[in-house]
Amino acid sequence: MSVTPLFTPLHLGPVLLPNRIAVAPMCQYMANDGCASAWHTQHLMSLAMSGAGLVMIEATAVSRRGRITHGCLGLYSDAAEDALAAVLDQARRVALPGTEFGIQLSHAGRKGSAHRPWETPGGSLSGSDAWQTLAPSEIAHREGWAAPQAARGDDLDQIADDFRNAAARAIRLGIKVIEIHVAHGYLLHQFHSPLSNRRQDAWGGDAQRRMAFPLHIARTVRDAAGNIAVGARITGSDWAQDGLTIADAATLATQLKAIGIDYACVTSSGIPVSNPTVANAEDEHPSLAEAVRRESGITTRAVGMITGSQQANDIIASGQADQVAIGRAFLDDPRWGWHAAFDLGITLPYPSPYAWAAPGEWSGVQRRRA
Ligand SMILES: Cc1cc2nc3c(=O)[nH]c(=O)nc-3n(C[C@H](O)[C@H](O)[C@H](O)COP(=O)(O)O)c2cc1C
Repeated sequence: MSVTPLFTPLHLGPVLLPNRIAVAPMCQYMANDGCASAWHTQHLMSLAMSGAGLVMIEATAVSRRGRITHGCLGLYSDAAEDALAAVLDQARRVALPGTEFGIQLSHAGRKGSAHRPWETPGGSLSGSDAWQTLAPSEIAHREGWAAPQAARGDDLDQIADDFRNAAARAIRLGIKVIEIHVAHGYLLHQFHSPLSNRRQDAWGGDAQRRMAFPLHIARTVRDAAGNIAVGARITGSDWAQDGLTIADAATLATQLKAIGIDYACVTSSGIPVSNPTVANAEDEHPSLAEAVRRESGITTRAVGMITGSQQANDIIASGQADQVAIGRAFLDDPRWGWHAAFDLGITLPYPSPYAWAAPGEWSGVQRRRA
């Protein structure tokens, strides 16, 4: 690997990315019945030229019922597929060479039927805006939230169909990376975690059965996805005495790899716990990623409070992860990739109309970064 590992190419399964930087999936809550809006056009156009080799589109619901809020993006209708196609068409016109788009497919489970995060009072929707959520067991996400229904066999069949159909739509959109959301307290994490899954059937009970539904969905999407990359966002820890641990994450990653899943992005938390066993979860994420990578051998992405170019480069150089995902730092600075390249002595191809601002053309770059 070169002296700037962050800017070396990466194979995610069959997909070649120009560097190790991914924009983390980030819900925008700006869709209308799953359909991308003008907000998504500006968001994805600006991230397409951010310098990240992979731009992950936000958690995208596989069904209306699988949304978190009424503002969530979806891929469950022709209208939603058409709206995202139009946005991607625009974003691809300005993308830096080699930049690929991925999408995170998700079902919110009991965390759905919620207010957008900036709405008050927050929590579950009520009245005619609300819908009945599904979960492995009838345990509410938090006190005061509406109780979910425990999913029956036919509900689970429908959810698998929904993931299959959404994957087919993503492929029609030319998306090269599909990520299954098995984290942050959403449905597949709810199945994986003993904190939220109290079933005693094929989909719950011991650790293997709690993994069964996430693995079933992973297989379903893998089969539907053909020759593109399929990954999963997984939980490195619930940070609770009786919750998921890094050993559970490594086991899940090993089994995901065995069924042809190309990478794991390791995050944590999402299921409320009263006394978390860690003070600052995100500080632990690179070491969680490292453990998953070491134990399972799967291509691994680290995420969480990665803000600096040297910090990101060190995570790749030290072998903690193969790729980094960066979220809020890209919202703050949609040219984060350009600035990381400058800091690490790499020349990125600037879009021609903006080339006047490139290092070598303009001494202001050095002054600004000093
Ligand atoms: C506005 C916002 C929306 C997010 N939406 C998602 C999402 O759709 N899917 C997901 O897995 N994580 C989501 N996250 C978590 C991020 O992907 C990321 O894991 C987290 O922000 C930590 O990375 P950072 O410190 O680089 O921001 C979101 C975070 C933010 C700030």
